[in-house]
Amino acid sequence: MKIQIINGPNLNLLGKREPGVYGATSFEDYLKELRALYPNLALDYYQSNVEGELINKIHEVGFDYDGIILNAGAYTHTSVALQDAIRAVKTPVIEVHISNVHKREEFRHKSMISSACVGVICGFGMDSYRLAVEALKGNGR
Ligand code: DQA
Repeated sequence: MKIQIINGPNLNLLGKREPGVYGATSFEDYLKELRALYPNLALDYYQSNVEGELINKIHEVGFDYDGIILNAGAYTHTSVALQDAIRAVKTPVIEVHISNVHKREEFRHKSMISSACVGVICGFGMDSYRLAVEALKGNGR
């Protein structure tokens, strides 16, 4: 199985950025753990702070990969273009968030992309990504 993890803006700073909200682990360190848990899966990783680059990556992998795990960061709450990109491709997309966005500011309660995704996982810290892998593997259905 080929799975693409895509992180959006400011998620390159995980580990340094608001550790009280997002934890103290960098994504690179977490990814090592995740890959060790799933040695038989190809877990590719891409991060960009630029909306169009996230869209380009979705187009690039979205007809070929078995799943996309997307944390679109703040673009979650604003981007019609990302919603359209998710709808445009064949690969199922799972929306993830590290924090529980529904416990936070009201502007984070609205997602522009959820309606185009297979499902949403939020609030489990970095473990949200592992739970998304499990969902893509078809466990728990
Ligand atoms: C986030 C939640 C978003 O509201 C925020 O803008 C982020 C991170 C999360 O993973 O909890 O950048 O997507």
